[in-house]
Amino acid sequence: LQRKSSKAKEKKQKRLEERAAMDAVCAKVDAANKLEDPLEAFPVFKRYDRNGLSVSIECTRGSRLDRATVDWAFELTKANMQTLYEQSEWGWKDREKREELTDDRAWYLLARDAAAGPVAFSHFRFDVECGDEVLYCYEVQLESRVRRKGLGKFLLQILQLVANSTQMKKVMLTVFKHNHGAYHFFRDALQFDVDDSSPGAGGCCGDDCCYEILSRRTRYGESRPGPPGGRCGGCCH
Ligand SMILES: CC(C)(COP(=O)(O)OP(=O)(O)OC[C@H]1O[C@@H](n2cnc3c(N)ncnc32)[C@H](O)[C@@H]1OP(=O)(O)O)[C@@H](O)C(=O)NCCC(=O)NCCS
Repeated sequence: LQRKSSKAKEKKQKRLEERAAMDAVCAKVDAANKLEDPLEAFPVFKRYDRNGLSVSIECTRGSRLDRATVDWAFELTKANMQTLYEQSEWGWKDREKREELTDDRAWYLLARDAAAGPVAFSHFRFDVECGDEVLYCYEVQLESRVRRKGLGKFLLQILQLVANSTQMKKVMLTVFKHNHGAYHFFRDALQFDVDDSSPGAGGCCGDDCCYEILSRRTRYGESRPGPPGGRCGGCCH
């Protein structure tokens, strides 16, 4: 009886600890979502003046965007992504993408050219994934005329900075394997890893899947022990 009750106590203690840990995770996500402007402390990231581009960058809740900007973001996403979605088992649905872009939890990075208006955006959210607080990048979309000028990389650097400053554990995103340019951009140029939650991550049964989940840890994402043999488990950037 003695042993049983101490086991029960241990179990209860473990449950309490797990709940406290989950509360702490949710508190971080809530705190991030309450920010007025996550870029406030980083004014140098509010402009990108390089490679012939001169744009301002703002970070704002989706609910604060005007109708014309939301319509522009939707049309740009559709122009860039519809065919890629149709080539996957997901298919493309206007209504679903519009709902995703206008979800209450949506945050935006918006790059605007003073003359031409918005030219690029990222839709992201602070969220809990598999028990971890993360910044999930739902979209990064550039007009074709502003690509390959470093702006996409800059926007992802800002997401990493925002994730660090809000104590998220990692930046995550989903990418189609057949979106070769974007895949190369995230995996090779930005050194994102295949996330443990990605369909093929365990080395099995992911080959026929059309997408991968990628991630990059922040300084708050603890490094996991590497596999036997000493290969780095993804902690080297
Ligand atoms: C993918 C995307 C966000 C990249 O942004 P970008 O500003 O064009 O990329 P950058 O100029 O920052 O590129 C940085 C590096 O990434 C790599 N890269 C970027 N785009 C690439 C492409 N299409 N093919 C191969 N490599 C690419 C290159 O190494 C590049 O460096 P380099 O130009 O010196 O060779 C942009 O092309 C885009 O909006 N594409 C359409 C929408 C899309 O597919 N979004 C991703 C959805 S998951």
